[in-house]
Amino acid sequence: MNQNEQKQAVAQVAVDYVARHLPKGAILGVGAGSTVNFFIDALLPLRAHLGGAVASSEATRQRLEAIGVAVVDLNAVDRLAIYVDGADEIDPRLCMIKGGGGALTREKIVAAASDVFVCVVDSSKQVERLGRFPLPVEVIPMATRHVARQLVALGGEPALREGFVTDNGNLILDVRHLAIHDPAALETTLNQIPGIVTCGLFALRPANVRIQK
Ligand code: A5P
Repeated sequence: MNQNEQKQAVAQVAVDYVARHLPKGAILGVGAGSTVNFFIDALLPLRAHLGGAVASSEATRQRLEAIGVAVVDLNAVDRLAIYVDGADEIDPRLCMIKGGGGALTREKIVAAASDVFVCVVDSSKQVERLGRFPLPVEVIPMATRHVARQLVALGGEPALREGFVTDNGNLILDVRHLAIHDPAALETTLNQIPGIVTCGLFALRPANVRIQK
């Protein structure tokens, strides 16, 4: 199976999971990225089951609306029972690096508002230790250089993602060479740096279910 076939296969398993576990008429949380795009394509037969969806990116919103799923604002719902999203890396404890597509902030918010995070990944995303994939960090534009210096002090090598602005109007630093021995501790450290909106470590709130190939 090539990578796209794997993404399609895990997307279908995630749709089956949603069909079994999401109460009829409930709102589904939907992440962002190419694996999630396959998930949305496979969601079509389940449309009538869903009360709607909360989307983690504008691209996801458009794709959901294109298949007739109503997209609702997160402020209009309480908790979400299930959130389905991909990852750039996932470790055996289900901690993840996310944000390769730049949607990490909304992804982390929707994940935090969800009871069950279902992570859909092909075999290339599964690692023993996080950190080969450069860690995306969303920053307030005026703080970019300040944040970059803090990341260098932590041993990282930040690079501005050229020509990219997030859905929130911010910038992304992709950070190589950070030693991620303790993902939750590093996430906590990064969360304390003024100017960082969100870091792409999802360790304080890892996934609950991994659907993999
Ligand atoms: C989007 O910002 C990311 O967090 C994605 O969930 C992650 O990059 C996985 O994307 P793919 O499914 O495209 O690999």
